[in-house]
Amino acid sequence: MADYDVVLDHVHKTYPGGVRAVIDFNAEIERGEFVAMLGPSGCGKTTTLRMIGGLEEVTEGKIYIAGQDVTDLPPSQRDTSMMFQSFALFPHRNVFQNVEFSLKMKGIDKDERARQVWEMVEMVGLKELAMRRPHDLSGGQQQRVALARALISRPTLLLLDEPLGALDYSLRQAMMIELKRIQRELGITFIMVTHSQQEAMAMADKVVVMSDALVQQIGPSREIAESPRTRFVADFIGNNNLFTGTIKSQSGSIVFVEAKDRLYYVRVPDYIKRVPVGGEVDFSVRADLMHTGEHRNMANSVKGSYVTTEYLGTLETDVFEIAPGHYVHVEQHRKLSDRVYQMGETETICWSAEAGILLEKAGAHLTQ
Ligand SMILES: Nc1ncnc2c1ncn2[C@@H]1O[C@H](COP(=O)(O)OP(=O)(O)O)[C@@H](O)[C@H]1O
Ligand SMILES: [Mg+2]
Repeated sequence: MADYDVVLDHVHKTYPGGVRAVIDFNAEIERGEFVAMLGPSGCGKTTTLRMIGGLEEVTEGKIYIAGQDVTDLPPSQRDTSMMFQSFALFPHRNVFQNVEFSLKMKGIDKDERARQVWEMVEMVGLKELAMRRPHDLSGGQQQRVALARALISRPTLLLLDEPLGALDYSLRQAMMIELKRIQRELGITFIMVTHSQQEAMAMADKVVVMSDALVQQIGPSREIAESPRTRFVADFIGNNNLFTGTIKSQSGSIVFVEAKDRLYYVRVPDYIKRVPVGGEVDFSVRADLMHTGEHRNMANSVKGSYVTTEYLGTLETDVFEIAPGHYVHVEQHRKLSDRVYQMGETETICWSAEAGILLEKAGAHLTQ
């Protein structure tokens, strides 16, 4: 247990009135890790964060921080700090005083306070603005004050609830990099709640994907992106094409799946121990692993009718309809000289046997 900074051991939360907000949450978080809890609104992220911080009672299960059972300890005895989406700054105090506040409460002497506050204010890039009041700062600057205030007590664990939610696009992009840098510099464990897969993927070492009070998958960002375990994760992470079909047969780590009268080769990841031959399954194929045109070396191909193209820099995503109402997204780098499709034009879409990955039913296993 002591190797982990934070452990959630079969944690449940049922609110008075019966709402089951968190069901059997298990996670092990290492010291210095940046963890993102990702999921749609209402799935139980904030509740989980508040239970870790001690602001919400645990209905069942245990929470450990730095090897100590903190399940029944008040927030003040947990060595955690929390940063909320609404920054909750003191409006009549300047930046310096806002950051200084908790040190004052602790009775730390003036010179030492000043030293620590200046160090922190500099770290978050607010040195020049230290004498300003919150209402004379931009949203992004206010957010830095809130961050400095949360970090000044040097907690071992910082809990952040949608910290970038109030910022506009470009500020959010900039703060993502800043947050990550500060977290690295201080070596503090961060647990951040977000509903944005982009934020989670950009910042976190480890992502916990939740839906409907359940943990769907826990893993490094890359693993979540490359190997989603359930239909929910594949769909929520985006950039995945989803199929539903029936397993016809199995040959080693490849299964043959029939979907809408077509047969596909699909890879069985090693964590799926029992392959339900004859049963209905979902599988997913990443948009960047699909290719247009005939490719002899690729096991899977299907014809589709061109619908539209979505642009993102030099990356283009062509959308094809392969069966009524079933669209697939093919993401590729495109030079200006490449072919341009006409609406309704038929094209072949190919992908390798390994690119398709079999998905598990939600909650089939809830371990790492
Ligand atoms: N104080 C509360 N009392 C009763 N139900 C609550 C309370 N707080 C949250 N909930 C419910 O618990 C569920 C999870 O909420 P929350 O943890 O805030 O989700 P998220 O942060 O993922 O949006 C929701 O159904 C929400 O309505
Ligand atoms: Mg929330």
